[in-house]
Amino acid sequence: MSLTEKYRPRAWEDFIGQEITANFLKKIAKTRIGKNIILNGPYGTSKTSFARHFAKTIFCKNVKDYSPCNECESCKAISENRQTNSYGGYYETDGRKCPDFTEKLDEYSLADLISGNVLLKNIYCHDKSVAFIDEAHLLPKTKQEDMLKLLETPRKDCFVILATTSMEHLIPALQSRFVPLYTKLLSLEDSKRLLAKICQAEGFYPKDGVLDAIAMKAKGHPRDIIKYLEQLSNYDSDFKLQSALEILNIEPQNWLLKFFIDIFSGKNKKEIKDIFRNELINFNYPDVLFKQFMLYMDMKRQNSVFINGSELYFMDHALQEEFFKKFDEFTQSKHINTHITWEALMHFIITAKISNYEEWCAFLEDILDFRVTDEFKPNVGKAVSITQPKYKNRKIIQC
Ligand SMILES: Nc1ncnc2c1ncn2[C@@H]1O[C@H](COP(=O)(O)OP(=O)(O)OP(=O)(O)O)[C@@H](O)[C@H]1O
Ligand SMILES: [Mg+2]
Ligand SMILES: [Zn+2]
Repeated sequence: MSLTEKYRPRAWEDFIGQEITANFLKKIAKTRIGKNIILNGPYGTSKTSFARHFAKTIFCKNVKDYSPCNECESCKAISENRQTNSYGGYYETDGRKCPDFTEKLDEYSLADLISGNVLLKNIYCHDKSVAFIDEAHLLPKTKQEDMLKLLETPRKDCFVILATTSMEHLIPALQSRFVPLYTKLLSLEDSKRLLAKICQAEGFYPKDGVLDAIAMKAKGHPRDIIKYLEQLSNYDSDFKLQSALEILNIEPQNWLLKFFIDIFSGKNKKEIKDIFRNELINFNYPDVLFKQFMLYMDMKRQNSVFINGSELYFMDHALQEEFFKKFDEFTQSKHINTHITWEALMHFIITAKISNYEEWCAFLEDILDFRVTDEFKPNVGKAVSITQPKYKNRKIIQC
């Protein structure tokens, strides 16, 4: 069994980073009054797990404090995604497979289930049903329209749960019949909490920085977080940082540091452009890369935490120090305030949204002869601009 399956949440407290949704669902499980719920969030963030956990809570024979036992027949059947009609009205399908609503699923149809035409309590001695349509964005529009009437008035004895990564693919009238619950990407802290929990359970002892590397790579998607941990465990049981970076293909962007160090050192323009041209070719979104870089360096300078999800975290420490040294020398030699220079660079990069190479080169030309006017001081309420002719009227800081 894969680690992602092994560590699919089995208790409400296991849903790391999703407390609001977990508490809401637990409350509904307590009241046992039917509701139409839609779970919406990025891939791998607990939607399917929530729907199944909720259903287990409703049908479990040994439920304790509104948590399922995970051991009884009903819990097992739901965990293993077996059709559980015979265990009490649980039905799971996905948007693409979602059959004609009148087609029989086992003994009755989805329409029967949702509309209560089948008296489940008489047949199975259960007083509730849960119909879960996963990947609901795959429901064809006509199917969505078919559901409108069925769902007009939520039934007290039926929970209808949809899950989707793309709410916009559902027609608004259908959306409005559901209470939206959100599943979120995990913060860096929560990502590491999840990793630490699994490492402890599995007896993994990752070296310093490895959990950060995994968390960075996974960018907050819990399934990916666990998947990458498993991948590393297969290759290197010592969990060394160097092998983690290699296996996860995390490339420290040291060239960016070198690039700016060269600029600040007044190196030959052509050389700088060549580095820039050769390295930048690998990036689809250079402006995003630069923006991340500047924000990251700014935070680094202030010794605050690094930006969530940034591979830049793994840049060479000594080069980072050199970057700041050269940066200070540069501003001193130009007799400009360090703070203003920083703001200028940063805001230019962030607001300019430069997406083509030529524009970046023009920017380089300017920055190699970087000058700022008094006007450029970030006074409150004042818009400022770089003095070079080309960018003269470009407002770059809006205080
Ligand atoms: N909040 C969480 N805490 C811990 N692990 C989680 C959490 N959410 C998801 N996982 C892990 O990720 C796996 C996938 O989760 P799940 O299938 O619920 O995601 P999903 O939102 O349905 O994704 P998709 O949109 O791709 O179908 C789980 O088996 C579990 O290992
Ligand atoms: Mg899912
Ligand atoms: Zn149970």
